[in-house]
Amino acid sequence: MFDKRIRKYVSDIMSGEKNSSFAMAALKLEDSSTMPTFKDGQTTEEKVESLLSQMTLEEKITMLGGKDNLGIHGVERLSIPEVWCTDASAGVRCYGRATAFPVPLAMAATWSKELNRKTGEAIGEECRAKGVSVLLGPGINIYRVPTNGRNFEYMGEDPYLSSELVVPYIQGVQSRGVITTVKHFACNNSDYDRHRMNSEVDERTLQEIYFPAFKAAVQKGGSKSVMCSYNPVNGVYASENKDLLTGVLREDWGFDGFVISDWTCVYSSEGPVKAGLDLEMPQGKYMNSKKLRPLLEKGIITEEMIDNKIRNLMKAFIDIGAYSRNLKDPSFNEYDDNHSKISLQGAREAVVLLKNKNNILPLNKENLKKIVLIGFNAVNTTSCGGGSCGIKSYDKVNIADGIRAMVSDAVQISSIATEKKSYRLTDADRKLIKEADVVIVSAGFSSVEESECWDRSWKLPFDQDRLIKESTTLNSATIVLLSAGGGVETESWLGDTAALLHTFYLGQNAGTAIGEVLFGEVNPSAKLPFTMAKKWDDFESTKNYVKKPEAISFMRIIGPQGSNAIRKPWTLKYSEKLMVGYRHFDSAKVEPQFPFGFGLSYTNFAINDVTLSKDSIRRGESCEISLTVENKGTKAGAEVVQLYIHDRESSLIRPHKELKGFEKVYLEAGESKKITLPVLPEHLEFFNNGKWAAESGQFTLLLGNSSRNIAASLELELMD
Ligand code: BGC
Repeated sequence: MFDKRIRKYVSDIMSGEKNSSFAMAALKLEDSSTMPTFKDGQTTEEKVESLLSQMTLEEKITMLGGKDNLGIHGVERLSIPEVWCTDASAGVRCYGRATAFPVPLAMAATWSKELNRKTGEAIGEECRAKGVSVLLGPGINIYRVPTNGRNFEYMGEDPYLSSELVVPYIQGVQSRGVITTVKHFACNNSDYDRHRMNSEVDERTLQEIYFPAFKAAVQKGGSKSVMCSYNPVNGVYASENKDLLTGVLREDWGFDGFVISDWTCVYSSEGPVKAGLDLEMPQGKYMNSKKLRPLLEKGIITEEMIDNKIRNLMKAFIDIGAYSRNLKDPSFNEYDDNHSKISLQGAREAVVLLKNKNNILPLNKENLKKIVLIGFNAVNTTSCGGGSCGIKSYDKVNIADGIRAMVSDAVQISSIATEKKSYRLTDADRKLIKEADVVIVSAGFSSVEESECWDRSWKLPFDQDRLIKESTTLNSATIVLLSAGGGVETESWLGDTAALLHTFYLGQNAGTAIGEVLFGEVNPSAKLPFTMAKKWDDFESTKNYVKKPEAISFMRIIGPQGSNAIRKPWTLKYSEKLMVGYRHFDSAKVEPQFPFGFGLSYTNFAINDVTLSKDSIRRGESCEISLTVENKGTKAGAEVVQLYIHDRESSLIRPHKELKGFEKVYLEAGESKKITLPVLPEHLEFFNNGKWAAESGQFTLLLGNSSRNIAASLELELMD
């Protein structure tokens, strides 16, 4: 009961309704045409220096702390405008309604760079229409344990997949004149106790698992902003972690944007200033005049340090156009039908068909007279997880309506347990289930159970597993739809189900996409961006995790910020090291429930004619795999060809295989297409002795349509 009250209390704050400061920030977004004048032909650097030279110390310090929760200070005297931020990854969260896109984990299940780019572009456009120049996303923390309350907001368990998909998303947003903020740097892989959980991770694991998506976001995507995380990393809070914010980000990766704090993740003044934090949000609690001036006077920090932060901020704002345009751009629409179409296409391509016994799916409209829908999610369909990713959408199609739209009025659709989360079947319900042609159970989490600020349970909440089991006992044509931000316990109920679809949180058109997939108007093509295990203990990472992830406490969530005296950090060792997700299942030969990269289709594909341009290469050289993908069935569809690399001899233990390439191929029935996949020098490398390098020897290149279904393999030799 206490748990429920805390969840409700926090979720009200997070949802931004009523008088919360998130909603209030909307009021501040009046249009303004305040902007500084620059001399013709000035470079960005010259513009920055010209503004900086006119600013007083007080004005500079003021700019280092946020304003009204989502704003970055301007300087009225110099006509430097304020800049506004918004959450984030699945749409524009703040300032009223917006298009709700599928959550990033669902977008990762599409394995589509194009759709991730289009989603980014659409979100960027809505930002511009609302007057926002900084998007506080995308989130790209690695899916380390299935219960992390924010996995839905990230792009799955694989660093290569996340890297490949985050880049087009960033390019899409930034192409519209909006800065992206990749978050949360680093190792915020759990929301169980994010202010105190010190992630202890060795260097190689950071480099191979937890850094690559951030590195790609910065170097390939060109993200102009990075958000540091709440948690300490290797004993030092991320916001004051110089190794991370200066060493890794700026010195190793050449990042030249700005580092923004997560909301209340700053715990002191001197550390963050020196470490490389540029902006404290939502306000300058530690980066303010009262705190910084004494440090300046004592010479502990210098004005040059402050100037550099202003340079980082203003360079990004000038480059993106935020200092040379009106706040709102009328050429972009806040509501755009095309954005809803992009969201719908994302949802269609995100539904993963995991089980389809006797090809019960797609359902045949002609043979159906009675459908029974079970579960709260059928009507109150969760379109997004809770917290700062949650979008208040314009329209929303729930699952019940999506199914209704697929069948004629003559088909009887009955609903059970759609009003209540916890429910016990009555005799009348049992009769309905028994007599139905098909039963569709919409199981999963609501945005209160699966949300930022806490972890969720491994088991389905509200005894929904019992409902599924009762239904399968009464009617073998029971299909389960799983709305969740990742894997859940399925082993106890999966066996007798007829079909299972993972439907994530699909945004405002969830019901339409699900209806279309169920009835075959859309052929499912998505693949899991994470491993689904049979048992909680099957993951190596859960062995190094908390015992009861879903247990929540007031102190962990909303207790006071900062002071280590109150918030004594405790250490969580990432002892599984590289063995995250399929890397562990494959290396330790553990059978997953559904493997990484897996997803069925209503057609079948073959991978043929696999050849390699060279079977041996010298260090630094590339080669190319060619192959043909064939749609052997009678329905058009898409296949995701995946390339994994197995290093046959290595001086250090490496995961059995790792994803290093993929391509999504759309094919008509009977059609074949030739594709090529490059093998680049970095695909063979691992991190050893402080650097990335490949060791000479034999590599096996594995091609398939999941991490466990390998259709062909090739041998490649790397020579010195
Ligand atoms: C979240 C961030 C988010 C920020 C602003 C924090 O609670 O961790 O991801 O961007 O709030 O809403």
